Amino acid sequence: MELIDGNVIAASIIAELKTAVSALAGRKPCIALVRVGEDPASISYVRKKEKTAADIGLESRIILPPVSIAQTDLEKLIDDLNADPAVDGILVQSPLPKHLDERTIFRRIAPEKDVDGFHPLNLGKIAQEDPTGFVACTPAGIMELLARSGVDLAGKHVVVLGRSLIVGKPAALLALQKKAGANATVTICHSGTRDLPTLTRQADVLIAAIGRAEFVTADMVKPGAVVIDVGINRVADASKKTGYRLTGDVHFSSVAPLTEKITPVPGGVGPMTVAMLMQNTVKAFHQRSRATR
Ligand code: GUN
Repeated sequence: MELIDGNVIAASIIAELKTAVSALAGRKPCIALVRVGEDPASISYVRKKEKTAADIGLESRIILPPVSIAQTDLEKLIDDLNADPAVDGILVQSPLPKHLDERTIFRRIAPEKDVDGFHPLNLGKIAQEDPTGFVACTPAGIMELLARSGVDLAGKHVVVLGRSLIVGKPAALLALQKKAGANATVTICHSGTRDLPTLTRQADVLIAAIGRAEFVTADMVKPGAVVIDVGINRVADASKKTGYRLTGDVHFSSVAPLTEKITPVPGGVGPMTVAMLMQNTVKAFHQRSRATR
């Protein structure tokens, strides 16, 4: 069994981006980070994105509307960022307060600045295998982890557990693409799948993204499989100072010894997402410079 170390792989991507950005003459790529309200997890995520952008040499703009902002005012704010030539990427941190319609807000972001890859046009571009699209940071991170760990998906059976718009569906579409590193046979399983263990046991590569703590047990995994654990779940643990521990969608201690390679939680897919966001921002910058030249 080999651990796929997301911290190490993310650090090398960030170092590569830093080199590429330092070689740019003139204006640097700029990401606008919009956080509405004071959700503690959102504060820490946005801070991490801001810090990583600074490390790479990207510009960032932090926009902190009050929790009471009206839908129309947030839409206006996005329209202004869409129209601002100095802004390459726009990220609206999720979750938004309940009175705001997140789906409408995400669709308001100009697709060419949608570095989160949440806009329907960008999801559609994955299906069309159009490389100008933006892939959401988690599925992009999964593909990058596999590629940089030497896992070639060609001809393999990839089983994706979970059908979310942000992880399961795009991850399945990416693995299915007819190109180097992909070209897999793909099965998507979900909460309504009958006889799940029979399907997951067929996986050469199992991507667990169902959001249920330690759901994948040893009887569900083929010996020698590669397992990517996308889950981040809190489970009560009285022995921890915080009262909880973080765990994935995979029961790590029983599954890991069976696998060829596996991602830990934390330290697997998680660290990759910020690196992918930065990569998307640099890509948006280049595509926008080409378009306006
Ligand atoms: N909240 C948790 N993950 C994400 C993400 O990838 N993008 C945004 N915008 N919000 C999030």
